[in-house]
Amino acid sequence: MLQSLEIELTSNKKQQPAADQLGFGNHFTDHMFIMDYSTDNGWHKPRIQPYQPIVLDPAAKVFHYGQTIFEGLKAYKTDDGRVLLFRPHKNIQRMNRSNERLSVPELNVDVVIEALKQLISVDKDWIPTAPSTSLYIRPFIIATQPQLGVAPSTHYQFIIIMSPVGAYYTEGVNPVKIFVESEYVRSVKGGVGEAKTAGNYAAGLKAQEIAKEKGYSQVLWLDGVHRKYIEEVGSMNVFFKLKGVVHTPALNGSILDGVTRNSIIQLLKHWNIEVIERPITIEELYKASQNGELEEAFGTGTAAVISPIGELNWQDDVLIINDGKTGELSKKLYDTLTGIQMGKLEDPLGWMV
Ligand code: COI
Repeated sequence: MLQSLEIELTSNKKQQPAADQLGFGNHFTDHMFIMDYSTDNGWHKPRIQPYQPIVLDPAAKVFHYGQTIFEGLKAYKTDDGRVLLFRPHKNIQRMNRSNERLSVPELNVDVVIEALKQLISVDKDWIPTAPSTSLYIRPFIIATQPQLGVAPSTHYQFIIIMSPVGAYYTEGVNPVKIFVESEYVRSVKGGVGEAKTAGNYAAGLKAQEIAKEKGYSQVLWLDGVHRKYIEEVGSMNVFFKLKGVVHTPALNGSILDGVTRNSIIQLLKHWNIEVIERPITIEELYKASQNGELEEAFGTGTAAVISPIGELNWQDDVLIINDGKTGELSKKLYDTLTGIQMGKLEDPLGWMV
């Protein structure tokens, strides 16, 4: 299908931001990829065009019923000028799992990867090279049929936009303070928690806002039924090092199957460090801390990579982890993963494309 890819280049290139002005998701490259879907024609008309607003009918289903999926992945430029993508197939395969859950039509993974490579090659001058920077890639699908019946859309658009980024949290790889959320929940089993869909993030904003008011960067989500099992931290997966063994909540239907989560598990196993995926309660975590067994805690995600947790507040019971400092393992994981991604370290598990 990509044989028919149309490319329209901009005649008006934007000024690129300085590396220290990037932040996260504030600037966008000169071009975007777009492809249409209709029930009659399937996915068709793939094109690269100058970055621009999209025109949608106000009745488009995405605005009313939230039928939309997104992904996030990164591209890096190595010192010798090669462009690397980190496990892109994993993201597009997950996109198809999210599509399935939200009754959105499946994508051809190879076609999307090819589109991605073409778009990156058009905008490769936008890939920043300063330490801890990268090109964040945001593929997404929206339901565009202008019709208010609650039913899957007959029309969609698949779009890829790209943003040169620095650190996601202003703290960078320094520990963040986390508020354990006891009132709101992010998702429940059988819901859409394991799909990367907008509603999950919209549903988390209120708790995040309240946590911020209390001086915390993010919330730790507990399960929606028992309110005791740890699920995710903010928009990231979460890991705990207890007596030398790393534990992370098992995927249970309401937790996102993170690409970074999977990579951290593989890397730890490669280093012969034991990793256990299992249900973890907030109570046992506090007990482990009292017994001196909780050594490190960190979130994992594409945007921030590794974000150490220095403090938890659960119903005003404050727990300081590793004296509020970045743990040795968190730092080693961050350095190794970003080193592999930037092409500075060997890629022992064959991740880079
Ligand atoms: C990630 O950690 O990559 C995320 O999911 C955050 C993103 C929604 C900005």
